[in-house]
Amino acid sequence: MIVEIIPCLTDNYSYIIHDKKTNTVSIIDPSEFTRCDEQIKKYKKLDFILNTHHHLDHVGGNLELKKKYNSKILGFELDRNRIPGIDILLKEFQKYKLGNLEFEVIFVPGHTKGHIAFFFNKEKVVFTGDTLFSLGCGRVFEGSHKEMFNSLCKIKSLPTETKVYCGHEYTKSNLNFCLTYDKNNIHLQKKLNYVDEKLKNNLPTIPTTINDEIETNIFLRCDDEEIKQALNLKESSEEEIFSKLRDLKDSF
Ligand SMILES: [Fe+2]
Repeated sequence: MIVEIIPCLTDNYSYIIHDKKTNTVSIIDPSEFTRCDEQIKKYKKLDFILNTHHHLDHVGGNLELKKKYNSKILGFELDRNRIPGIDILLKEFQKYKLGNLEFEVIFVPGHTKGHIAFFFNKEKVVFTGDTLFSLGCGRVFEGSHKEMFNSLCKIKSLPTETKVYCGHEYTKSNLNFCLTYDKNNIHLQKKLNYVDEKLKNNLPTIPTTINDEIETNIFLRCDDEEIKQALNLKESSEEEIFSKLRDLKDSF
């Protein structure tokens, strides 16, 4: 499985997945036609377009790419009326093959009502859209904080070595937020050096891993006593800590 990262718009990432054995080419969340097509051209084909959710910065390239390459568009069944050009309606837990590469649909509502993640179990790779970011999580637009918390728990429970590819390059600002409430976390200090080095060289900070996120992403660390203390919420539940952090991040 080859994953090619395409920076799009201001801070979006689209991802090409190439299954060399069967020469199957797919793209996750094509934000815009031109930049994606510049990378797709060399394959001379595009079999599948996958969308994590319906927001324009994730589906903006759908129709033009479909028109040019006659691709099949896959999205969650709940979003059948708002993912442009959708052909195949995916269900929760459904497995689907892109050539030899099989993914499972993880239903992760919160950012939107129909948000899904694509988990490739054999390759240990997950595409999380705007649900889990490196060191952060998406804003809760359509769902509840409880839904978002549960969705993040689902992603957190994936094998720790799983590589995580998310929808945006928000890592640096997320890191600053994490450091505010989790400043003694030694893993965060290390991550700071890594992130600065990548960004200085104009490189993505993606992929991260589930293990890295459990160690550093404050939204996955709502059971940490020091964080609870920093928020002055020592008696609160994990879910309450999550809600508090999400609200604080919204105005950070
Ligand atoms: Fe979004």
